[in-house]
Amino acid sequence: MKFFVDTADVAEIRELNEYGLLDGVTTNPSLILKAGRDIKEVTKEICDIVDGPVSAEVTAVDYAEMMREADVLSKIADNICIKLPLTLDGLKACKALTGDGRQTNVTLCFSANQALLAAKAGATYISPFIGRIDDMGTDGMEVISEIRTIYDNYDFQTNILAASIRTVNHVKLAAMIGADVATVPPATLKALVKHPLTDKGLESFLADWAKTGQKIG
Ligand code: G3P
Repeated sequence: MKFFVDTADVAEIRELNEYGLLDGVTTNPSLILKAGRDIKEVTKEICDIVDGPVSAEVTAVDYAEMMREADVLSKIADNICIKLPLTLDGLKACKALTGDGRQTNVTLCFSANQALLAAKAGATYISPFIGRIDDMGTDGMEVISEIRTIYDNYDFQTNILAASIRTVNHVKLAAMIGADVATVPPATLKALVKHPLTDKGLESFLADWAKTGQKIG
């Protein structure tokens, strides 16, 4: 499973990239607002840090304007992946951009049927929003599982990018189902390493080591 980080915070991206944990980055208009930066400037900075795909989202709702914005965003760097909303215009733009050899991420997916349409439009990634589906009282993971089955049935090459991840358990379940990528907020990504028995075990090894009076090297 690949890990993308879901943030436009350059300091967090730099840190996670140094740990070797990042395969890419996803941003959206809300994350750009949170970063308080100019979209082109911050996206360029992110693209310079990470080798993998960096999703940058169009904000237009009609096809022609989406294509114009996609062109502007694509010029930022070679690793830009154009993020498009799951609407008819978004799917049309996805088909056109894919035909031009661009990477696309179809976002705001809440059902398996929507994911089927995105695959037919040739999306590189489909982003089902697990946490927001859970918020509605239904099961986000069930949607990931349905999409996996449909994509495997027809050998669609679109990558399932589990998004709106809120917990470490979301990451584990998405991996077990076979989501290709999880885009994870920085704090949740770092929380994956945590286990109380790891901390306890390390503490006890260090205490015993100190008692040996030895040094390595
Ligand atoms: O990148 C989009 C997605 O991950 C949003 O997550 O937490 O705002 O539902 P959230």
